[in-house]
Amino acid sequence: MSVGGTRVLVVGATGDIGGLAAGQLAERGAVTALAGRNRARLAERASALGGRPWRSFDAYDLDGCARLAPWAEAALGGLDAVVVTVGVAAFGSAAEVSDASAEHVFTVDALAPMAVARGALRMMSPGGVVAVVTGEVVDRPARGMADYAAAKTALAAWLGVAGREARRERVTVMDVRMPHLDNGFAARAAVGTAPALGPGADPPAAVREHLVGPVLDALSS
Ligand SMILES: NC(=O)c1ccc[n+]([C@@H]2O[C@H](COP(=O)([O-])OP(=O)(O)OC[C@H]3O[C@@H](n4cnc5c(N)ncnc54)[C@H](OP(=O)(O)O)[C@@H]3O)[C@@H](O)[C@H]2O)c1
Repeated sequence: MSVGGTRVLVVGATGDIGGLAAGQLAERGAVTALAGRNRARLAERASALGGRPWRSFDAYDLDGCARLAPWAEAALGGLDAVVVTVGVAAFGSAAEVSDASAEHVFTVDALAPMAVARGALRMMSPGGVVAVVTGEVVDRPARGMADYAAAKTALAAWLGVAGREARRERVTVMDVRMPHLDNGFAARAAVGTAPALGPGADPPAAVREHLVGPVLDALSS
Protein backbone atom coordinates (compact mmCIF):
# COMPACT_ATOMS: atom_id res chain seq x y z
CA MET A 1 0.00 0.00 0.00
CA SER A 2 1.26 3.50 -0.79
CA VAL A 3 0.62 6.25 1.72
CA GLY A 4 1.67 9.19 -0.40
CA GLY A 5 1.67 12.41 1.57
CA THR A 6 0.95 10.84 4.97
CA ARG A 7 2.80 12.93 7.57
CA VAL A 8 4.63 10.92 10.23
CA LEU A 9 6.88 11.91 13.14
CA VAL A 10 9.44 9.24 14.08
CA VAL A 11 10.82 9.72 17.62
CA GLY A 12 13.98 7.72 18.23
CA ALA A 13 14.96 7.96 14.56
CA THR A 14 18.66 7.68 15.46
CA GLY A 15 18.11 4.14 16.73
CA ASP A 16 17.93 0.91 14.77
CA ILE A 17 14.15 0.39 14.84
CA GLY A 18 13.43 4.11 14.45
CA GLY A 19 15.84 4.42 11.52
CA LEU A 20 14.33 1.38 9.80
CA ALA A 21 10.80 2.67 10.40
CA ALA A 22 11.65 6.10 8.97
CA GLY A 23 13.22 4.49 5.89
CA GLN A 24 10.33 2.07 5.29
CA LEU A 25 7.74 4.81 5.76
CA ALA A 26 9.57 7.02 3.26
CA GLU A 27 9.73 4.10 0.76
CA ARG A 28 5.94 3.84 1.03
CA GLY A 29 5.53 7.54 0.24
CA ALA A 30 5.12 9.00 3.74
CA VAL A 31 6.52 12.43 4.54
CA THR A 32 8.55 12.17 7.72
CA ALA A 33 9.96 14.40 10.45
CA LEU A 34 12.69 12.89 12.61
CA ALA A 35 13.47 13.32 16.31
CA GLY A 36 16.31 11.76 18.27
CA ARG A 37 19.11 12.46 20.71
CA ASN A 38 22.29 12.15 18.66
CA ARG A 39 22.36 15.30 16.53
CA ALA A 40 25.01 14.13 14.05
CA ARG A 41 23.23 10.83 13.32
CA LEU A 42 19.90 12.60 13.14
CA ALA A 43 21.15 15.14 10.61
CA GLU A 44 22.72 12.34 8.55
CA ARG A 45 19.51 10.27 8.50
CA ALA A 46 17.35 13.29 7.71
CA SER A 47 19.66 14.12 4.82
CA ALA A 48 19.67 10.51 3.54
CA LEU A 49 15.85 10.65 3.39
CA GLY A 50 15.97 13.71 1.15
CA GLY A 51 16.35 16.54 3.67
CA ARG A 52 13.63 15.87 6.22
CA PRO A 53 13.02 18.26 9.17
CA TRP A 54 14.67 17.06 12.37
CA ARG A 55 14.86 18.02 16.04
CA SER A 56 17.00 16.68 18.87
CA PHE A 57 15.72 16.04 22.38
CA ASP A 58 16.67 14.18 25.54
CA ALA A 59 14.34 11.83 27.38
CA TYR A 60 14.99 13.70 30.64
CA ASP A 61 13.41 16.85 29.17
CA LEU A 62 9.79 15.72 29.41
CA ASP A 63 8.42 19.12 28.35
CA GLY A 64 10.65 18.89 25.28
CA CYS A 65 9.27 15.39 24.60
CA ALA A 66 5.70 16.72 24.75
CA ARG A 67 6.60 19.50 22.30
CA LEU A 68 7.79 17.10 19.57
CA ALA A 69 4.38 16.39 18.01
CA PRO A 70 3.36 20.09 17.83
CA TRP A 71 6.79 20.84 16.32
CA ALA A 72 6.30 18.13 13.67
CA GLU A 73 2.79 19.33 12.89
CA ALA A 74 4.17 22.81 12.19
CA ALA A 75 7.14 21.46 10.21
CA LEU A 76 5.02 19.12 8.05
CA GLY A 77 1.88 21.25 7.76
CA GLY A 78 -0.14 18.64 9.67
CA LEU A 79 0.46 15.33 11.40
CA ASP A 80 -1.19 11.96 10.74
CA ALA A 81 0.93 9.59 12.84
CA VAL A 82 3.57 9.53 15.55
CA VAL A 83 5.91 6.54 15.94
CA VAL A 84 7.92 6.32 19.19
CA THR A 85 10.91 3.96 19.36
CA VAL A 86 12.93 5.45 22.23
CA GLY A 87 14.24 3.03 24.83
CA VAL A 88 17.16 1.49 26.65
CA ALA A 89 17.68 -1.89 28.31
CA ALA A 90 18.89 -2.52 31.86
CA PHE A 91 19.99 -5.87 33.21
CA GLY A 92 20.72 -7.24 36.66
CA SER A 93 18.82 -8.84 39.51
CA ALA A 94 16.13 -6.73 41.15
CA ALA A 95 18.24 -6.58 44.31
CA GLU A 96 21.36 -5.39 42.51
CA VAL A 97 20.16 -2.70 40.10
CA SER A 98 20.73 0.76 41.63
CA ASP A 99 17.90 3.23 42.16
CA ALA A 100 19.71 5.63 39.82
CA SER A 101 19.65 3.02 37.05
CA ALA A 102 15.98 2.27 37.75
CA GLU A 103 15.17 5.98 37.50
CA HIS A 104 17.08 6.18 34.21
CA VAL A 105 15.23 3.21 32.69
CA PHE A 106 11.83 4.43 33.85
CA THR A 107 12.55 7.88 32.38
CA VAL A 108 13.73 6.63 28.97
CA ASP A 109 11.38 3.63 28.63
CA ALA A 110 8.21 4.96 30.24
CA LEU A 111 8.04 8.67 31.13
CA ALA A 112 9.58 10.01 27.90
CA PRO A 113 7.43 7.92 25.51
CA MET A 114 4.37 8.84 27.60
CA ALA A 115 5.26 12.53 27.36
CA VAL A 116 5.70 12.29 23.57
CA ALA A 117 2.37 10.47 23.23
CA ARG A 118 0.63 12.89 25.62
CA GLY A 119 1.81 15.82 23.53
CA ALA A 120 0.54 14.07 20.40
CA LEU A 121 -2.83 13.10 21.88
CA ARG A 122 -3.53 16.75 22.72
CA MET A 123 -3.46 17.72 19.06
CA MET A 124 -4.04 14.66 16.84
CA SER A 125 -7.04 14.90 14.51
CA PRO A 126 -9.60 12.08 14.09
CA GLY A 127 -8.03 9.25 12.09
CA GLY A 128 -4.59 9.89 13.61
CA VAL A 129 -2.30 7.15 14.95
CA VAL A 130 0.14 7.13 17.88
CA ALA A 131 2.31 3.97 17.90
CA VAL A 132 4.76 3.30 20.72
CA VAL A 133 7.20 0.37 20.88
CA THR A 134 7.08 -1.54 24.17
CA GLY A 135 8.28 -5.12 23.62
CA GLU A 136 7.54 -8.76 24.20
CA VAL A 137 9.19 -8.35 27.61
CA VAL A 138 5.76 -7.10 28.78
CA ASP A 139 4.30 -10.55 28.07
CA ARG A 140 7.38 -12.54 29.09
CA PRO A 141 9.35 -10.72 31.82
CA ALA A 142 12.50 -12.73 32.47
CA ARG A 143 14.92 -12.93 35.36
CA GLY A 144 17.55 -10.21 35.23
CA MET A 145 15.17 -7.74 33.60
CA ALA A 146 12.91 -6.63 36.47
CA ASP A 147 13.45 -2.90 36.01
CA TYR A 148 13.34 -2.94 32.19
CA ALA A 149 10.22 -5.15 32.21
CA ALA A 150 8.54 -2.98 34.85
CA ALA A 151 9.18 0.22 32.89
CA LYS A 152 7.84 -1.29 29.66
CA THR A 153 4.84 -2.75 31.50
CA ALA A 154 4.06 0.65 33.01
CA LEU A 155 4.21 2.13 29.51
CA ALA A 156 1.96 -0.64 28.15
CA ALA A 157 -0.63 -0.04 30.90
CA TRP A 158 -0.61 3.69 30.17
CA LEU A 159 -1.02 3.10 26.43
CA GLY A 160 -3.93 0.73 27.06
CA VAL A 161 -5.89 3.33 29.01
CA ALA A 162 -4.84 6.20 26.72
CA GLY A 163 -6.01 4.14 23.75
CA ARG A 164 -9.44 3.58 25.26
CA GLU A 165 -9.76 7.30 25.98
CA ALA A 166 -8.52 8.33 22.52
CA ARG A 167 -11.02 6.10 20.75
CA ARG A 168 -13.66 8.75 21.49
CA GLU A 169 -11.65 11.15 19.31
CA ARG A 170 -11.13 8.43 16.66
CA VAL A 171 -7.38 8.41 17.37
CA THR A 172 -5.67 5.00 17.45
CA VAL A 173 -3.05 4.30 20.13
CA MET A 174 -0.88 1.25 19.38
CA ASP A 175 1.24 -0.70 21.87
CA VAL A 176 3.83 -2.38 19.63
CA ARG A 177 5.08 -5.54 21.38
CA MET A 178 8.21 -5.89 19.26
CA PRO A 179 9.93 -9.31 19.51
CA HIS A 180 13.62 -9.63 20.39
CA LEU A 181 15.65 -8.54 17.36
CA ASP A 182 19.08 -9.42 16.12
CA ASN A 183 20.37 -5.84 16.31
CA GLY A 184 22.61 -5.60 19.39
CA PHE A 185 20.06 -3.68 21.50
CA ALA A 186 20.89 -5.72 24.63
CA ALA A 187 24.58 -4.85 24.27
CA ARG A 188 23.68 -1.13 24.42
CA ALA A 189 22.14 -1.57 27.91
CA ALA A 190 22.42 1.32 30.36
CA VAL A 191 23.52 -1.14 33.03
CA GLY A 192 24.37 -4.81 33.35
CA THR A 193 24.86 -7.67 30.93
CA ALA A 194 22.03 -9.41 29.17
CA PRO A 195 21.18 -12.98 30.17
CA ALA A 196 21.48 -15.51 27.35
CA LEU A 197 18.90 -14.53 24.75
CA GLY A 198 17.76 -16.74 21.93
CA PRO A 199 18.25 -15.78 18.30
CA GLY A 200 16.57 -12.50 17.41
CA ALA A 201 14.22 -11.72 14.55
CA ASP A 202 15.42 -10.03 11.36
CA PRO A 203 15.13 -6.26 12.11
CA PRO A 204 13.80 -4.94 8.76
CA ALA A 205 11.21 -7.73 8.49
CA ALA A 206 10.10 -7.32 12.13
CA VAL A 207 9.79 -3.53 11.82
CA ARG A 208 7.69 -3.97 8.68
CA GLU A 209 5.46 -6.65 10.27
CA HIS A 210 4.99 -5.24 13.77
CA LEU A 211 5.29 -1.49 13.33
CA VAL A 212 5.18 0.07 9.86
CA GLY A 213 2.57 -2.31 8.41
CA PRO A 214 0.11 -1.94 11.33
CA VAL A 215 0.56 1.85 11.42
CA LEU A 216 -0.22 2.15 7.71
CA ASP A 217 -3.16 -0.25 8.07
CA ALA A 218 -4.57 1.84 10.94
CA LEU A 219 -4.17 5.04 8.92
CA SER A 220 -6.04 3.59 5.97
CA SER A 221 -8.90 2.04 7.98
N1 LIG B 1 15.96 -4.38 19.64
C1 LIG B 1 15.18 -5.24 20.26
O1 LIG B 1 15.45 -6.44 20.33
C2 LIG B 1 13.90 -4.74 20.87
C3 LIG B 1 12.90 -5.68 21.17
C4 LIG B 1 11.72 -5.22 21.75
C5 LIG B 1 11.54 -3.86 22.01
N2 LIG B 1 12.55 -3.00 21.71
C6 LIG B 1 12.34 -1.58 22.00
O2 LIG B 1 12.42 -0.87 20.78
C7 LIG B 1 12.92 0.44 21.03
C8 LIG B 1 14.08 0.74 20.09
O3 LIG B 1 15.03 -0.29 20.16
P1 LIG B 1 16.29 -0.31 19.16
O4 LIG B 1 16.64 -1.73 18.99
O5 LIG B 1 16.03 0.54 18.00
O6 LIG B 1 17.39 0.37 20.10
P2 LIG B 1 18.50 1.45 19.75
O7 LIG B 1 19.02 1.23 18.40
O8 LIG B 1 19.46 1.41 20.89
O9 LIG B 1 17.69 2.82 19.77
C9 LIG B 1 17.26 3.38 20.98
C10 LIG B 1 16.75 4.77 20.72
O10 LIG B 1 16.43 5.39 21.98
C11 LIG B 1 17.13 6.63 22.05
N3 LIG B 1 17.49 7.02 23.40
C12 LIG B 1 18.12 6.29 24.34
N4 LIG B 1 18.30 7.04 25.44
C13 LIG B 1 17.78 8.27 25.17
C14 LIG B 1 17.67 9.48 25.89
N5 LIG B 1 18.14 9.62 27.14
N6 LIG B 1 17.09 10.54 25.29
C15 LIG B 1 16.61 10.46 24.02
N7 LIG B 1 16.71 9.35 23.28
C16 LIG B 1 17.28 8.26 23.86
C17 LIG B 1 18.39 6.41 21.23
O11 LIG B 1 18.99 7.66 20.91
P3 LIG B 1 20.57 7.72 20.50
O12 LIG B 1 20.65 7.07 19.14
O13 LIG B 1 20.87 9.14 20.46
O14 LIG B 1 21.31 6.94 21.54
C18 LIG B 1 17.80 5.66 20.05
O15 LIG B 1 17.16 6.56 19.16
C19 LIG B 1 13.29 0.47 22.52
O16 LIG B 1 12.21 1.05 23.22
C20 LIG B 1 13.40 -0.99 22.88
O17 LIG B 1 13.11 -1.20 24.24
C21 LIG B 1 13.70 -3.39 21.14
